[in-house]
Amino acid sequence: MAAESESADDDSFESSNPTPIGVKLGSTRTVLRYFENADSDELTTVRTLTCLALYEDAITGEEKALFGEQAAAEYPDRVQYMLRSGLPEDDERAELAGRFFRELLSANGVPSDSAVVYAIPTMDNDAGLENLTEVIESSNIGAHTMRAYPESLCGAIPAMGDGVEAVDDVFISVNMGSTNLEACAYRRGDQLVPFSTGSVTGNDVDRRIVANVEEETQGRVHVDLTTAREYKEEHGNVGNFEPFSDVIQQPGGGSHEYTIEDSVVDALDWYLDAAVNEVANEFLPELANDYMKVYQLSLNNDIAVTGGMACIPGLAEEFERRLCEELDRDVNVVVPDEPDLAAAEGARRIAEKLAGQ
Ligand SMILES: Nc1ncnc2c1ncn2[C@@H]1O[C@H](COP(=O)(O)OP(=O)(O)OP(=O)(O)O)[C@@H](O)[C@H]1O
Ligand SMILES: [Mg+2]
Repeated sequence: MAAESESADDDSFESSNPTPIGVKLGSTRTVLRYFENADSDELTTVRTLTCLALYEDAITGEEKALFGEQAAAEYPDRVQYMLRSGLPEDDERAELAGRFFRELLSANGVPSDSAVVYAIPTMDNDAGLENLTEVIESSNIGAHTMRAYPESLCGAIPAMGDGVEAVDDVFISVNMGSTNLEACAYRRGDQLVPFSTGSVTGNDVDRRIVANVEEETQGRVHVDLTTAREYKEEHGNVGNFEPFSDVIQQPGGGSHEYTIEDSVVDALDWYLDAAVNEVANEFLPELANDYMKVYQLSLNNDIAVTGGMACIPGLAEEFERRLCEELDRDVNVVVPDEPDLAAAEGARRIAEKLAGQ
């Protein structure tokens, strides 16, 4: 009798296991990671541009929303990237971000009975963070648990091991995003000396590519920021760059083909020097000043480099080389398999622990 009721309990416990979900609401892309159902070992990754376009239904007149790549492609004239500066800055953008997130969750049938961990940026912007918290809390997922951890910790987790080893470690993490470069030391999950700058970013690289292309083509070609980002993501390579060609339609008819040799390489070269400078000459001296022993320990440990910019082939290796040179000592950089998805994956692993799985 007792055994029977025990197993009944077990069953009901099993069926109510929440789904652990990792979420990164990024300024360029949003990523979700979770297992579709409890017994599957197939990891679902949802990766979409963080943008929304509103339009009126032609029959009912109702306001409707499209998000992600489809919104960007069909409504380039009115698509809104509401997290473009990293966080929802005002009520209007918070409202749009909330709508974007709801549409994304419902389109993918993301389970509400879930333990959700959000990877959030380290930024000195309380109002923005509060708005982001509101977006998160108003969603219908995370009925079981809802927590936020720093993006650079979440992103380092898959770089430092197969589980959540990073949370028990002392190390430095550098996150290379679209609107920010973050660096931070972690001591068993605790953030020491969080550093973040908006002056060395993936978006800056895109802007430089626009200017470089104009110069390289003697003013004949002006690409927009989206095209510049695509050049960077598709052709960007440090140490092994292949020149590539593209074609523009001329306003008066006809087309003009051009080859890009230096524009992308030069922009990435600037990025690397600037990133090394921020880490070596701004962040690390502050860390050494406040926590000398942690500074020494963490420079002897691996440095995790994460974020979308670390997807660029050869970039992290060159960052390591230039950082060694600048510091005049050996340091070792580790990169997760998929640097742009790493924060969501790390968040998912934390969620798994929080859900007791
Ligand atoms: N293969 C790639 N895949 C995705 N992003 C890439 C790739 N190569 C370069 N990037 C760049 O990485 C940046 C996005 O990184 P990430 O997704 O970590 O940023 P984010 O979290 O949205 O931004 P932030 O935290 O700075 O607000 C963009 O500049 C993007 O163009
Ligand atoms: Mg980020």
